[in-house]
Amino acid sequence: MKTRTEEIAQAAKAAVEAALWAPSIHNTQPWSFGVSGDEISLRADPDRKLRVSDPTGRQLMISCGAALFNVRITLLALGYEPEVRRIPDPERPLLLATVRVRPGQEPGEHVRLLHGEIERRRTHRSGFTALPVPDRLIDALVAEATAEGGHVTPIRSDASARVLAALTGAAQDVQSQNRLFVLELMRWARPPGSSRRDGVPAAGYPTDPRRTYPQHFAQRDYARGHEWGMAPDERVSASTGLVALLSTAGDSREDWLHAGEALQRMLLHASAYGLSVAFHTQALEMPELREFIRRHLCSDEPPQMIMRLGFVIDESESVRRAPSEVLE
Ligand SMILES: Cc1cc2nc3c(=O)[nH]c(=O)nc-3n(C[C@H](O)[C@H](O)[C@H](O)COP(=O)(O)O)c2cc1C
Repeated sequence: MKTRTEEIAQAAKAAVEAALWAPSIHNTQPWSFGVSGDEISLRADPDRKLRVSDPTGRQLMISCGAALFNVRITLLALGYEPEVRRIPDPERPLLLATVRVRPGQEPGEHVRLLHGEIERRRTHRSGFTALPVPDRLIDALVAEATAEGGHVTPIRSDASARVLAALTGAAQDVQSQNRLFVLELMRWARPPGSSRRDGVPAAGYPTDPRRTYPQHFAQRDYARGHEWGMAPDERVSASTGLVALLSTAGDSREDWLHAGEALQRMLLHASAYGLSVAFHTQALEMPELREFIRRHLCSDEPPQMIMRLGFVIDESESVRRAPSEVLE
């Protein structure tokens, strides 16, 4: 028989292991965790912050927020109640959250459903099949994000989707000519056969992403002229999918953490219904373009993510570091 202390320690370990599967910008996995008694702490890892493309740490915070959601949902799925304090100590800015493992209840079906998707979910990086995203599923995704303080806006107008695609293309072109942006991306792009467990692996994107219709969203250039990536699958469809924005009411560090929690909750729900999600956040890394999107496409709310949603045939691959590398 395990003691209560041992049971809590085991649940905390499972929660940290699940956290590692969160999406993060360029798979930087910019986090570290501590477990002390019944408390899990989540810290930002400043060495993994993108100093050129993410100087404010906004995308780092979103990534850590997604990891925090995995901690919470895992504890709930194991029958515990997570007691969360976000940014608990202004004197220690790297400490992003503490989670106390409290006694809870039998998990409901929905909690188990989301928890079951943590390791299955993957970022998609090409076109979607022509199957439309059902309205009921869109409504459910909006509700999941809202429950975490995020706001998902499906972009239904062709003109607005074209504007977002054009801004993505412009940002991608500007970044590809900026040596500092390119060097930073190079640091996180992994050649085929790499044994590194972070960064974007060559198996995570197609060699030659085909144009998508009706709008084309530029992909990040992880391969930089190399023949890296997976051979394009001829069956892969060329539909853009549903374009959507995630925004938050404010733009503080706490808002960014909530944005990550909302994102991950929405992504796990999407995954449970076979829906994949692609991200194109280049334009949000350029303050002028981000401001433009906020004013013209986001009802004046600060945009946090630009996404495409749809159904796919095959899924790409990803990698993660071992729990021992992120546990202090
Ligand atoms: C804040 C944020 C921004 C991201 N931006 C992009 C992007 O612009 N393009 C892209 O292909 N993936 C983007 N991603 C996805 C990450 O590259 C992906 O999560 C990471 O490589 C891990 O892979 P996985 O999601 O398949 O597990 C982003 C993820 C986060 C959290």
